Amino acid sequence: MSESTDPDRAYGEGDATHQALGGVDAIRRLVEVFYEEMDTLPEAATIRRLHPSDLEVSIDKLARFLSGWTGGPKLYSEKYGPIKIPVFHQHLPVGEAERDAWLLCMERALGRLGYPDDLRAYLLRELFVPAERIRVRVAERERTKAAGGASGLTIGTATEQDR
Ligand code: HEM
Repeated sequence: MSESTDPDRAYGEGDATHQALGGVDAIRRLVEVFYEEMDTLPEAATIRRLHPSDLEVSIDKLARFLSGWTGGPKLYSEKYGPIKIPVFHQHLPVGEAERDAWLLCMERALGRLGYPDDLRAYLLRELFVPAERIRVRVAERERTKAAGGASGLTIGTATEQDR
C-alpha cells in the first residue's frame, strides 16, 4: 500500500486510486494522452503499429479497463465481457522494449496531466505487473511453440478486478 493524497486511504484500497485519478472522465483523458504519446514517441513506433490506425475503440477499451482496474466501475466487462490481459496480448510481439515503451507512454501521460509524484510512482509500479506478465506469457508461448508443444499455458492473469 502507498500513501495517497487522502490521508485516510492508501492507493489500492477500495476506489482510492480511481478517485485520486479524478474518476471516469479523467481516466479517459489520461488514456487519450497516453495514445497521443504512443502516436508521437519514436520509442513507441513499434507498438503503435500493432494498433489500428483509428484509435477510438482502443481508447474506449483501455479507459474502461483502467476504470475497473483502479477500483472504480467495471466498465470494460460491462461492455465487452471478461478479459485476461496476458492471454489477450499473447499473440503480440511483446518483449522488454515493447513493455517499456508502453510504460513510457503512460509515464509521460501521467506527467503531462500533472498528477502528484506518489500517485505516478504507484501507478507505474502497479502497471509494470500486468505489462511484465504479458512479456512473460509471450516468451513462454514462443518457447512452447519452438519446442513443438501445446500452447495455452496459464502463467499470470490480470483482470479488471486485479490491481
Ligand atoms: C506490455 C505492453 C503492451 C502492448 C505492446 C500492448 C498492445 C496492445 C494492442 C496492440 C492492443 C490491440 C489494440 C486494438 O486492436 O484495438 C491492445 C489492447 C488492449 N490492451 Fe494492451 N498492450 C500492452 C500492455 C497493456 C497493459 C499493461 C494493459 C492493462 C493494464 C493493457 C490493456 C489493454 C486492453 C484493455 C486492450 C483492449 C482489449 C480488447 O480489444 O478488448 N495493455 N494492447
